[in-house]
Amino acid sequence: MKKRVREWKEFLLPYQQAVDELKVKFKAIRKEYRAMSKYSPIEFVTGRVKKISSIIEKCERRNIDIDDIQEVMEDIAGIRIMCQFKDDIYNVVDLIHERSGKDLEILYEKDYISNPKQSGYKSYHIIIKYSVQTAFGEENILAELQIRTLAMNFWATIEHSLNYKYKEDIPPEVKEKLVNAAKAVTLLDDEVCGIRNEIINAQQIFELKSNIVSDITKNLKRLDKYCTPEKVRKYYDEFDEAWESEDEEKLKEFLVKIKGEIPLYTMDKEGE
Ligand code: GTP
Ligand code: MG
Repeated sequence: MKKRVREWKEFLLPYQQAVDELKVKFKAIRKEYRAMSKYSPIEFVTGRVKKISSIIEKCERRNIDIDDIQEVMEDIAGIRIMCQFKDDIYNVVDLIHERSGKDLEILYEKDYISNPKQSGYKSYHIIIKYSVQTAFGEENILAELQIRTLAMNFWATIEHSLNYKYKEDIPPEVKEKLVNAAKAVTLLDDEVCGIRNEIINAQQIFELKSNIVSDITKNLKRLDKYCTPEKVRKYYDEFDEAWESEDEEKLKEFLVKIKGEIPLYTMDKEGE
């Protein structure tokens, strides 16, 4: 049975719901780590519902009956989770395993990291069953979670565009370059993973300092209300000095000092 556009739109609604919910959930994991000043194994999350034209094209390619897609096609709802480091992928996979049987159910997994595809493609795939509550009852949705590093994502995006351009028939010399590029991605991921802790530490130091500085500038702007212009000028000079010293402790002390000038009860009023 061919679905008309309106029917397609209705059919795809719970898939959009699933993608939206899953995106919120995986982004929340990142937020929670960050709120606790911890390193997040998730760098960013994207999601999409497969286009109607791609669903039809896949049905023809794989000889799938349109009526069976809800049970058979696993990637109508797709979520991509990008990690900075290769090791983070397995941490994310563990987090998803812990959720299985709770708000999602893992059906099966494909580890294209241990076993890359011939093209050079690498990613960890988890096919899940996810239930969404709609106005008309519960719908069970299949979804594909792809977990990969930023470098793997870069490669897959490029390879995907080339496949699109050459209609799956990439010339051999381009294919060879892609295979070489995939090797470079593996090398890059291995090398940076070797200094993972050092990089994480550097990122945390950087973030801590930029948080202090943004906190200072926010509070400096409010000093006008509570101090004389002379005093405000003095504080600005003091900030310049602390900034130039690049001494984090000095910046922290300065922050405490200017915060002391601002009455506490004003915090809420000013929407802080
Ligand atoms: P389809 O490839 O979608 O027909 O499904 P499949 O059953 O062969 O599953 P597979 O795990 O091979 O691929 C699922 C998804 O992974 C694809 O839709 C792509 O998003 C991604 N993928 C798999 N292989 C490649 C590849 O060689 N290059 C790129 N760029 N992406 C790939
Ligand atoms: Mg495939």
